[in-house]
Amino acid sequence: MVFFGDPSNKSLSEKLAKELDLKLSYPEIHTFPDGEKRVRVLENVVDQKSIVLKSLGVPVHDNLFELALIIDAIKRTGGSEITATVPYIAYQRGDHVFRVGEGVGLEVVIKVIEGSGVDRVLFVDPHSIKLSEMFKIPAMELSALSLFAEKIKEIEPNTKKITLVTPDMGGIRRIKILSGMLNGANYVSITKERDLHTGEIKISSSEGEFKGICFVVDDMISTGGTIVQAADFLFEKGIRDIYLMATHPVFVGNAIKKLKNSKAEKIFVTDSIPIPKEKRFEKLETLTIAEEIAKCLKI
Ligand code: R5P
Repeated sequence: MVFFGDPSNKSLSEKLAKELDLKLSYPEIHTFPDGEKRVRVLENVVDQKSIVLKSLGVPVHDNLFELALIIDAIKRTGGSEITATVPYIAYQRGDHVFRVGEGVGLEVVIKVIEGSGVDRVLFVDPHSIKLSEMFKIPAMELSALSLFAEKIKEIEPNTKKITLVTPDMGGIRRIKILSGMLNGANYVSITKERDLHTGEIKISSSEGEFKGICFVVDDMISTGGTIVQAADFLFEKGIRDIYLMATHPVFVGNAIKKLKNSKAEKIFVTDSIPIPKEKRFEKLETLTIAEEIAKCLKI
């Protein structure tokens, strides 16, 4: 088995190689001045199975195309079975036609991944519940929720004293699973609306009772708008112990500034997407998903 780590996520690559007990190799990636890329694998992959790690964080299109080129390079060099480990798959918020005339971004991303010749794909905490079934190749889905459950128990072992919060109705399935992991902990769902033209978010209401320490849990933080507004909403309701948790730290625009100034005590994310030094701050803690991924790949 050959393991190709993600050169832009060395920390997760190293941890995963260790968990899998495999030598860590990186593909050679050269970017030409016009943005085109040349990818080469230097390992002997002939008749060997391989695992490729690549998340589709920013820059999304570069990462997507690099992933396709790496898989293509392995195939052409004689590799046998390839598993693409893509912790964060971009474009999931575009999993259907919202307005007449639109394309379906997620379907295009899937076509690019599948078209590269990969045999199976693994991803973490999808935003779209349709993701697994949209792939025609075998798709393995895993979750960082158990990591969040452990963290929550560390902060407050008495699960009767906590409330789990989903910042929008789309996250209700996630929050119910997490509640199940925490002895049926209380949960609340917030109703959020997003303007499809401006992307602006508005919180209109909530369902359920806020009590104790509140943990807002989401699949991703992009601009930070959703999760920080949820924290503000909780604060207005008189909650003072607020923690934010999200699997994928996409972190674009003013996300860091918003999160730093948010009402949250702490913010937990995973290493599904690398966080550059300049985007790290004191109240941000990164949990690793290496062990969960390795468990899934070892089966
Ligand atoms: C949306 O439905 C997702 O679950 C996230 O809440 C959202 O994508 C986060 O984006 P942002 O941080 O830009 O609000």
